Amino acid sequence: MKPSPPSVQRPRHWLMGPAYFAQRNPLKWIPQWIEEVGDIFTITSPLGRAVVVARPEWAKHVLADAYHHYQSKSRSYAVLRILFGNGLVTSEGEFWRGQRKLIQPAFHRHRLDRLFAMMVERAEGFVSLLQRASSAGQPWDVCPPLSQLTLDIISRAMFSTDVEGSAADVSRHIATLNEFALRMLRHPWMFLLPRSIPTPFNGRQVRALRDLNRIVYGIIQSRRQLPDEHDDLLSMLLSACEEGTGRGMTDEQLRDEVMTIFVAGHETTANAMSWLIYLLAQNPEQERRLIEEIDANWPEEGLTTENIGRFAFVRRAIEESLRMFPSIWSVGRRCTADDEIAGYGIPQGMNVVIPIAHFHWSARYWDEPQRFDPDRFLPERRPGPEQMIYFPFGAGPRSCIGNHFALQELMIFTVIFYRHFTFRLPPGFTAVPDPLITLRPKNGIQVIVKRRTAPTQNPTPEISSVV
Ligand code: HEM
Repeated sequence: MKPSPPSVQRPRHWLMGPAYFAQRNPLKWIPQWIEEVGDIFTITSPLGRAVVVARPEWAKHVLADAYHHYQSKSRSYAVLRILFGNGLVTSEGEFWRGQRKLIQPAFHRHRLDRLFAMMVERAEGFVSLLQRASSAGQPWDVCPPLSQLTLDIISRAMFSTDVEGSAADVSRHIATLNEFALRMLRHPWMFLLPRSIPTPFNGRQVRALRDLNRIVYGIIQSRRQLPDEHDDLLSMLLSACEEGTGRGMTDEQLRDEVMTIFVAGHETTANAMSWLIYLLAQNPEQERRLIEEIDANWPEEGLTTENIGRFAFVRRAIEESLRMFPSIWSVGRRCTADDEIAGYGIPQGMNVVIPIAHFHWSARYWDEPQRFDPDRFLPERRPGPEQMIYFPFGAGPRSCIGNHFALQELMIFTVIFYRHFTFRLPPGFTAVPDPLITLRPKNGIQVIVKRRTAPTQNPTPEISSVV
């Protein structure tokens, strides 16, 4: 029998062992254990064991090359099942494969092109909010409004117009359920309690889920009755059929996929935009280069799928920001057939953690990793996917289905926001990353929004109307 990877011994919590510290502050302890114990180690708690793997070739092994041995998601995804059901993020094995095949075409590039104008319109709408914040001149937390913006965009992409009346309810319920999921992650013993126990929080959670289901099932029902009247993600999901059988998705499966795309598709992108604003505020020289590029290339005719490619520096700044603050800071799998990594046995059922943030931050792979340097992503310098040191959207067959969607949104937001505004940090403000499901800023990101005057040779009437 192969030996197990070495176990972390210290520090130890009296009940949860070292797992307590992995839970409380993984961004501190995982790098420290990599340093002290090695690139592969086991963390044990009364609730189970997990192996952390911290070498590019082993991460590639788990996520891509030997993916067949790691077809299940790790235990921590259980909390997501409350909201996602058996949607794309949480489903496994053959069922997942079939669903991914059905859903993939909805995220094809030419479909995204059709969402471009809507994304621009929503980003321009956001400018009036920025204008108000700049007039107030007070510190302003950009995270909640950005989350609202990305939720609004994914709702429109999913349901086109149907969601107008229910958008506020949908986002309120999703916020309640997100909060519930976060609590569960902070206090894993809550997994042991039946959710039927009537605590006030359980009550709110059950009501939010019930109301959200009612809205989503309602939209699905009315769509089934009038199938040809829309051109959105939901209509694609409704018409997607399995090859051979011609079978479509049940209402329940549709609900799970809709909810998954809703949640996976907004918080991640909102966090990414918040962190980019933070990094640019801390790095005025890089911000100057970004603004210079935007002013020099601002298209008279407005942003389009063709001209957005002009903003190469903006794109590099986004990529670098996703390196420094990967919205999904780690991914996990469960071993589905006995395997071996680096001479150690990985038994069936073992949870395996791939700490994406470690690969993005390690001085082994990056010069001055703490420096915000978008030029790392110049074509001649950027790391190739085979190096597995940069994978904010995951890797292998289960990598992010919405990566182009997210990058398109981030490009549009950055170009439009910085065309008219800059962001300053209030004196003494430091953002703290909180590594739960996503790497969100613990106390938000406070900024002071400053209006700037874009060069007049390229006037922008659609914005001047809100000033
Ligand atoms: C900056 C934004 C985003 C980041 C950093 C991100 C990151 C990721 C990562 C790392 C995974 C892999 C998870 C794993 O291996 O367990 C993933 C999966 C997924 N993402 Fe994203 N994501 C982003 C935006 C989006 C958007 C906009 C959508 C949808 C509109 C989306 C939908 C999904 C779905 C459905 C999956 C599951 C794919 C599968 O297992 O087949 N994501 N994402």
